[in-house]
Amino acid sequence: MRVLGIETSCDETGVAVYCSEVGLLAHDLYSQVAQHADYGGVVPELASRDHVRKLLPLCEKVLAEAGLAKSDLDAIAYTAGPGLIGALMVGSTTAHGLGLALGIPVLGVHHMEGHLLAPMLEPDPPAFPFIALLVSGGHTQLVQVQGIGEYVLLGESVDDAAGEAFDKTAKMLGLDYPGGPRVAALARSGQPGRFVFPRPMTHKPGLDFSFSGLKTYTANTLRDARAAGDDSQQTRADVALAFETAVAETLAIKCRRAMAATGIRRLIVAGGVSANVALREHLESLMEKEQGRVYYARHEFCTDNGAMIAYAGCQRLLAGQQDGDAMLAVPRWPMAELPPIA
Ligand code: KG4
Ligand code: ZN
Repeated sequence: MRVLGIETSCDETGVAVYCSEVGLLAHDLYSQVAQHADYGGVVPELASRDHVRKLLPLCEKVLAEAGLAKSDLDAIAYTAGPGLIGALMVGSTTAHGLGLALGIPVLGVHHMEGHLLAPMLEPDPPAFPFIALLVSGGHTQLVQVQGIGEYVLLGESVDDAAGEAFDKTAKMLGLDYPGGPRVAALARSGQPGRFVFPRPMTHKPGLDFSFSGLKTYTANTLRDARAAGDDSQQTRADVALAFETAVAETLAIKCRRAMAATGIRRLIVAGGVSANVALREHLESLMEKEQGRVYYARHEFCTDNGAMIAYAGCQRLLAGQQDGDAMLAVPRWPMAELPPIA
């Protein structure tokens, strides 16, 4: 089955073709980051308009790269949520329009299920069951995954998502949006140990997260340094490193607890923050001690992309699931509501 995947939930237009027999045939991404940079974050209306401009040309380009005509497609998968409503509607209506014209099934995919299954596109993917740490701009969740659509939420952030905390910290450090990769780059020249930030919610039991206090701690540290006349680049780098280390270690501590609670030793880490090298180092040393293994998507599929939507959609379409006539755009959508695949 050849599936066209369409991702438009936020500020990236992603398109891919996945074939259940051969694997990923082609994929491409258009990032709107430059358009939103002046505003310090994503402007929803600008995002929707830009998806309208970019989506169909990107579909043509990806099909050409795959050496396919539209008539070679067997189905279309698109991100139905969660995300920005206007941006989602562009993907949803385009997918349904194409599906109707081609007379093929169309399926709305859950964005976080796309992230969760992205490591399956790599050679030697994990077997079920596994623990998934989902860390993106909007979500921080630990999920026990028994199979596709069999998700038990073990814990989640009670306030900011990990990616959101990176983005807010970046702003305080005077760095542009999206802040995660920029905080990580600045942290590389930080001195370890000059500042030590708290590991939120690790002193009491449980698998939930909280990152808003860490943000305040960062703000206070920078304010105190500035009050003492220190506004140097080195201090900003030291703060970036202390923040990044605290987030990475906190996430690793919760992953260790989730493994202890479930007895599962396979961990996948997905979503934009899974691109973070410090986090990967923390998790790899944890897994060495725990005699387990950690899996990721390749770097370009950690952040939003069409390949993960084509892959996740293909698994469900193969099981006979499809939308019918309804064009879905669901801004808030708990992943636990997804049906299992039969
Ligand atoms: O999964 P994603 O592309 O979009 C959402 O579904 O939210 O994740 C974007 C988030 C942003 O908050 C971004 O700052 C963060 O992932 N991010 C990173 C890194 N790369 C992206 N955070 C830390 N380190 C990185 N290398
Ligand atoms: Zn995402």
